[in-house]
This record gives sequence, C-alpha cells and structure tokens, in this order.
Amino acid sequence: MKTLVATVLACASLLTFNQAAAKPIEIKFSHVVAENTPKGQMALKFKELAEAALPGQIDVKVYPNSQLFTDSTVLQAMQLGDVELAAPALSKFQKYTDQLQLFDLPFLFKDIEAVDRFQQGPEGQKLLKSMESKLLVGLGYLHNGMKQLTDNSPIRVPADISGKKYRIMTSDVLQAQFEAVQAIPLKKPFSEVFTLLQTKAIDGQENTWSNTYSKKFFEVQKYATETNHGVLDYMVVTSAEFWYGLPDDVRTKLKTAMDEAIAHGNRIALKKGAEDRQKIIDSGKTEILTITEAERQQWVNAMKPVWKMFADEIGPDLIGAALEANN
Ligand code: LMR
Repeated sequence: MKTLVATVLACASLLTFNQAAAKPIEIKFSHVVAENTPKGQMALKFKELAEAALPGQIDVKVYPNSQLFTDSTVLQAMQLGDVELAAPALSKFQKYTDQLQLFDLPFLFKDIEAVDRFQQGPEGQKLLKSMESKLLVGLGYLHNGMKQLTDNSPIRVPADISGKKYRIMTSDVLQAQFEAVQAIPLKKPFSEVFTLLQTKAIDGQENTWSNTYSKKFFEVQKYATETNHGVLDYMVVTSAEFWYGLPDDVRTKLKTAMDEAIAHGNRIALKKGAEDRQKIIDSGKTEILTITEAERQQWVNAMKPVWKMFADEIGPDLIGAALEANN
C-alpha cells in the first residue's frame, strides 16, 4: 500500500509544488453544519491560522451547511480531488473502514472525556490511518458531544420509542441500535432533518445539543430526552494525494494550524454543549427530560446486544481499548 501511496504522491508532489510557486494553493473545506457549531468554528479558525502561517501561499475556502457537498458525497469527491478537507461524523465512514463503527456502539463511552482519552491513545491514533488504502488521511478528531433523543412525545424508556420513525446517520450500527428498541431508523442526510421533522415524515432524531439548537430541530420537537447514549464526534480528513503532495514546510505549517484549530473547536464543543442545552430550555419550545438510573438501565439492556453484532467487524481488541478509556 505504501508503494501505491508513494507513487501517487510523488507525481502529485511535483505538480502541486509547481502550482504553489505560481499561485496560492486553494484548500476547499466542506462541511454540513452551521457556522455557530464546534465544527463550523474550527473550520473558520483553521482558515485564519493557516492563512496567517502561510501568507499569500494558500487560500482556504470554507463551505458550511452542505453548500458544496453532503457527507454522503464529500469523501468520494475528496478521492477525486474536488475538495481537500472535510470533517464528517465518525458514523459516516462505513464505506471506507469497518473500524470506525466502534464510535457508534451505544453506551460504549461514559462521557466525552473517555472518548478523548481513547482518541488520543495509541488505538485511536492508529484509526486516523485506517483509510490510507483508500487514499484518505485522518488529521485529527474533533468533538461535538454526546447524543440525545428528540421527539414530539415524551420518551423515557425503550417501550416509548417502539414503532417510531427516527432519522439516523448512514451507519448500520445506528440502524441496529434503533431496531433493538423496535423503532424504525431511516438513513437521511443532515440537510433534510429539519424538513422531515417539520412535515412529520419522521417522529424524532438523535443528535447533540449544538446540532439540535443550531439547526432549529428544537422548534419542531416538543421533547428531548437526555440519554447520552452515544457520541457524535468527527474525523478531519484530507486526501493522501493532496496532503503528501504538499511541500514539506507547507504541510508542517498546515498540520500545526489544524491541531490548533481542533483544540479551539474542542473548547467550543465543551462550552456550546451546555450553552445550547440551556438555550433550548430557555426557548420554552422543547422540554428536556432527564431519566432515572433504572430507566437508563432499560436502554442499556435493550441496546447493548448491538455490540456483539458488530464485534467481529470492528475488532474485539478495539472495543476493549475503548472500554479501558472509561477508567
Ligand atoms: C448528522 O448528520 O446528524 C451530523 O453528522 C451532522 C454533523 O456533522 O454534526
């Protein structure tokens, strides 16, 4: 594999270097969320830091709100050289690697700090390279937060969700998770969620506080149940051809800018989760339900069998390492 990457990159390198001498390297960063979210802010910070570090040499263009690509088209576009940066949710890489399905296992991580420990540990760092055979390079992880359920009726226990249509991201694990509680999961793009909720084509969805707030899902949902049943984080990815084709000094400066932008985004994720939860409460439109430990245990019992269904594909060692991060 290394040889394939090296050959592709050697050709790309010369081309890109020559172009760089003539005009700024254009870096298109495509994402699907609003600008006032952890990912939206991270992308803008990257633009600011990267352009400051390489004045006149690069031109970063950020396209939010699915303006350029949706998450189901962006990775292929990246492989074709039509976009240089994206940060899809970890649930959206299924076509490229089985291993990232780990992050969708319900009730695997106890909180975002545990997710962070795993991501920064050796197994998490290895996963950044898990798609290099598909010419996609992970530059880092970005947090959004833990997922909650929203609905028009109060959901407290698995029986309440039975028979209801829920929008999910394109992940077989998430499909199995909702099927385990007899709900009907529908894989739909993020850009369609508000309309699906508004027209009542679906009953509910799972998402973080910042996505539910920034995309106004709370305006068309009466309840949110604070389950923290899973994580919604991102991998910032780029194309191997683009990345390894950059002159070394440019790549090094861009990586530093990206690391700082991710740290900035992570600080925002922590703050925004709590702030946007409060804004949803203050709106008076959605009531936030907290569940008891006994109610939570019902969700765990119903959903945890999903782990076994995907353990072979993901790798039991990886699941073990993720569980370790809870300690
Ligand atoms: C979703 O589709 O719900 C999320 O992946 C959106 C995002 O990028 O946070």
